[in-house]
Amino acid sequence: MKEQLNEIRQKAISRLENSDTLAALEELRLQFLGKKGEVTALLKQMGKLSPEERPVMGQLANQVRADIEGMLAERKQELEAHALDAKLKAEALDVTIPGDEMTFGHQHPMNQVLQEIKDIFTGMGYQIVDGPEVELAEYNFTRLNIEEGHPSRDRSDTFYFTDDDSLLLRTQTSPMQVRVMENTKPPICILAPGRVYRKDEADATHSPMFHQIEGLVVDEGITMGDLKGALVTLMKRIYGEQAVMRFRPHHFPFTEPSCEMDMQCHKCHGTGEVDGQVCSTCHGEGWIELLGAGMVHPKVLEGCGIDPKRYSGFAFGMGLERMAMGRMKINDLRLIFDNDIRFLNQF
Ligand code: DAH
Repeated sequence: MKEQLNEIRQKAISRLENSDTLAALEELRLQFLGKKGEVTALLKQMGKLSPEERPVMGQLANQVRADIEGMLAERKQELEAHALDAKLKAEALDVTIPGDEMTFGHQHPMNQVLQEIKDIFTGMGYQIVDGPEVELAEYNFTRLNIEEGHPSRDRSDTFYFTDDDSLLLRTQTSPMQVRVMENTKPPICILAPGRVYRKDEADATHSPMFHQIEGLVVDEGITMGDLKGALVTLMKRIYGEQAVMRFRPHHFPFTEPSCEMDMQCHKCHGTGEVDGQVCSTCHGEGWIELLGAGMVHPKVLEGCGIDPKRYSGFAFGMGLERMAMGRMKINDLRLIFDNDIRFLNQF
């Protein structure tokens, strides 16, 4: 029996070394120490021993049992420590690794310029107003003194929704003049930025959708001098004191007299040429047309219920993209709409 006990101990030692899961350990415990385990089985045979042998064997058996229990506990601890180690390694979090870089967007260059222009005009007391892009021909043309048959009303120039040409995508922000005047008593001092639409092929200076900013001031005693003062103030603030501007006489049906304001081309500095080639920004003109303006036509005032004998007003409408191109030195209008991040990141 002594040999058997020693054998069991040896067996337990070698089996333990090869057990590397907690489940395997439990199996071992049952195999040796469980109710039907090998040590237990031996103990049951103690009755066959002589009274002298019994306590000696009893002691040995208990020793073996204690040894095995001790080894099991030790191995269990080892395995648990291992498992914890592995878990910690797998879940390791290195707080010193640099995080993912957050990239922030910014305002589109065109909107930056729009914001500048709004700031300048609100600083001069203008109110910003908004109006519909789907407009009645009545407002877009007729009440602005643009008669039936005028070339700008042509289907080749304007996007119409209806066969009777009464509903359209506004071709200019000028209908906002009528919308404001028919609802407001002078003094009126507003700025109306927004999208406009024309059937134009896209090139370096044209797009079928673009933005205009309309301005309107109506009060007693408003003159062309007020118009020039407001526009020169704007341009010097946007382009700097050194900016070169010119006013040219022009014709618009809804203003009398009318003018256009140009800025000298920032690309060719007015020469119309870059490296011996025709300047692509101004098509060789040397000037970039920025806006149309004039004194509000008496017929337009009257049509909105404002007495032209008492009140006068000036109005202007400028292309926002062109302003942005000059301000940001962009030489192709299409860049403004392409949304190429390499382009936008430069502003
Ligand atoms: N609406 C005109 C255009 O799109 C620009 C314009 C000219 C606006 C004269 C005005 C103005 O307010 O008085 O070409």
